[in-house]
Amino acid sequence: MSSSDALSDALAQLDALRAEGLAAFESAGSPEAVESARVEYLGQKHGRVKAAQERLKTLEPASRKGYGQRFNAVKTDLESACDAARSRVERKDVAVGAIDVTLPGIRPRQGHRHPLTQTADELIDLFGRFGFAVARGPEVEDVRHNFDALNIPPSHPARDPLDNFYLAVGGKSAPGGAGSPTGESAMLRSQTSTVQIRVMESQPPPVRVIAIGRVYRPDTVDATHSFMFHQVEGLMVDRGVTMGDLKSVLRLFARAYLGKDVTIRFRPSFFPFTEPSVEVDMLWHGGNRWVEMGGAGMVDPNVLRAVGYDPDEVTGFAFGLGIERLCMRRHGIDDIRLLYQNDVRFLRQF
Ligand code: DAH
Repeated sequence: MSSSDALSDALAQLDALRAEGLAAFESAGSPEAVESARVEYLGQKHGRVKAAQERLKTLEPASRKGYGQRFNAVKTDLESACDAARSRVERKDVAVGAIDVTLPGIRPRQGHRHPLTQTADELIDLFGRFGFAVARGPEVEDVRHNFDALNIPPSHPARDPLDNFYLAVGGKSAPGGAGSPTGESAMLRSQTSTVQIRVMESQPPPVRVIAIGRVYRPDTVDATHSFMFHQVEGLMVDRGVTMGDLKSVLRLFARAYLGKDVTIRFRPSFFPFTEPSVEVDMLWHGGNRWVEMGGAGMVDPNVLRAVGYDPDEVTGFAFGLGIERLCMRRHGIDDIRLLYQNDVRFLRQF
């Protein structure tokens, strides 16, 4: 073979190498296919481009310049074809070395309202539908609002210092108040019934309110007791309000909050601020015993008088239910302490 024949043969092979290499990179459809084409053509040790480079040495010195120039062009073309193929398949398969925007992100964990707050909000919503507005009162109360105006006489056992958190603020026996048996005039309220008095003192009838809040009693903590818990108080005063209204409202509420299969029962009882008074029990389908949810009754005429209402004009009903009990019943929680420990493993479930 003459040296020019040898050169044209070598150049033809370079052109073929170029055509085949470009076709290989163009048809590669995955990162793996691009990589295997790269190894075949551009591999440092056994690649076909490397072999073509080796061939330079076999040519006559006169042919080397022409071959070298063509070789460089082919090599550059194949390298850019390899780069193009790589970015093409990488775009299709985003995971390779890039951020995969199609993967689910890492969401910051979002908090939510405490189950007791959820219960309170739902109470506000449900009673709101019956026309009850929300009222509030202080947790640090005076003895007048906690006892006297609620027709609880000074001798009543509910005033026992062992059953109440009295506070020695502002001296003992403030003027006008009967005070506690030991003379304190302030206390942490032991019931939300205080808000009944505060609302009626501040407005003439008609009244239709609920009050939700904390109450405090020095009870020993166990699965069903705490020194602090929450109550929802209800009060409706108007002309011609009856016990039938009370029962309807509580029954509708119980079924709305706890389910259609809830039955409610009134058991005769006594509270100084209602006459007659009842305990409110609820029974669930599948449950085997009545659960006491709180107390209720018709507002005692003495209470109406204490706030300047005329018991011959208006009558009213009142009720007080335990919010923890409602919440625990609703969610099947069996230990009240779980509601106060702020353990997110527990709270996350609601
Ligand atoms: N205040 C009572 C308690 O804490 C519950 C109660 C009973 C509230 C009867 C009322 C009521 O409004 O009418 O035990």
